[in-house]
Amino acid sequence: MKFSINPNDDIEKVLIEKDAIREKVRELGVRISEDYRGKELTLVSILKGSIVFLADLMRNISMPCKVDFISVSSYRGGIETSGVVRMIMDLRESPVGKDILIIEDIVDTGYTLDYILRNFMTRDLASLKVCVLLDKFEARRKEVRVDYKGFDVPNKFLVGYGLDYRERYRNLPYVGILKPEIYRGEK
Ligand code: PRP
Repeated sequence: MKFSINPNDDIEKVLIEKDAIREKVRELGVRISEDYRGKELTLVSILKGSIVFLADLMRNISMPCKVDFISVSSYRGGIETSGVVRMIMDLRESPVGKDILIIEDIVDTGYTLDYILRNFMTRDLASLKVCVLLDKFEARRKEVRVDYKGFDVPNKFLVGYGLDYRERYRNLPYVGILKPEIYRGEK
């Protein structure tokens, strides 16, 4: 595994250009603003991958909303999920009685979202919905409900716009397919 000095050189193909992301995030913000009109929304961002999406999405929501974070992990930086999801950090504020919208960058196998939904369903919320930018539906192993979705994506290893490989590439402004030679040999 050898990373390039310029991270763009490790990208096989740009899958979703930054302008397409910007337009889709704007559309999602408009829909969410309409659906939650008159309510007080709390966005719950799943660290770390969703931070870029959250930052753009919340600026397209035209009503007061709160933000909170949880941290879970199952990939441990690599390419294959362990299937065992761990809660590393819980919410700062109690979600009881609140309208919660989970913000995720990608749903892949579904293990992470399944864990989070099961956890949140026990917490006596006013409502619970899910907003995902990328849906890698071919990789799904757990059926999960997605209420707002940006793009369907192929079953390739994706990085950029928050998504990482070994903590790199999150800062790329587009979603790209990582060159297989970067992670070849890893299980
Ligand atoms: C990534 C991503 C999702 C999850 C989706 O998180 O941000 O949370 O994997 O995969 P799944 O549907 O197969 O569970 P990761 O655990 O890599 O942590 P990160 O967000 O900090 O990169």
